[in-house]
Amino acid sequence: MKASSTAFPLAVLCGIAGMAWGIAMSMSQDHSTLPAHAHLNLLGWVSLFLMGVFYRLHPVADRSRLALVQVIVWFVASVLLAIGVGLIYSGNMAGEPIAAITSLFLIADMLLFGWIVLKNGRAGAGSAAMPHPAE
Ligand code: HEM
Repeated sequence: MKASSTAFPLAVLCGIAGMAWGIAMSMSQDHSTLPAHAHLNLLGWVSLFLMGVFYRLHPVADRSRLALVQVIVWFVASVLLAIGVGLIYSGNMAGEPIAAITSLFLIADMLLFGWIVLKNGRAGAGSAAMPHPAE
């Protein structure tokens, strides 16, 4: 399984859940959990989709096990962070350790992604199938 093929459907899943959360907030006229909705959408949908785009543009990275691990950790930690933040803003402090621990996973995973980006930084690097037009 490629990292991008994993990231895209998981990102869409987060987008659907985040939007459903937004609709639920609107219908109930209770916006107290908006930080959780925002984090699920921005980490789970937008960031994960962008990571998928990077991997799709860098086929060598896309095929690596490390990239797949990075994507899966990002998805799981984003969902758990949103749950933790949602609990906190609903007045349930059980969410605090969940949010604290998952935030550390997320920053470590972003550092890992940064390292993968640096290693594979050149646009189209590793793409044998699509040579640059100037080449
Ligand atoms: C069906 C789609 C969506 C609905 C119904 C919805 C609904 C809402 C609602 C009701 C709020 C609270 C507003 C407030 O109390 O000030 C909110 C806030 C927010 N939403 Fe959404 N949302 C949707 C999709 C998205 C998406 C796709 C994103 C990001 C990619 C997003 C990002 C945010 C952010 C960042 C906030 C916080 C804004 C602030 O603090 O001022 N939302 N949304």
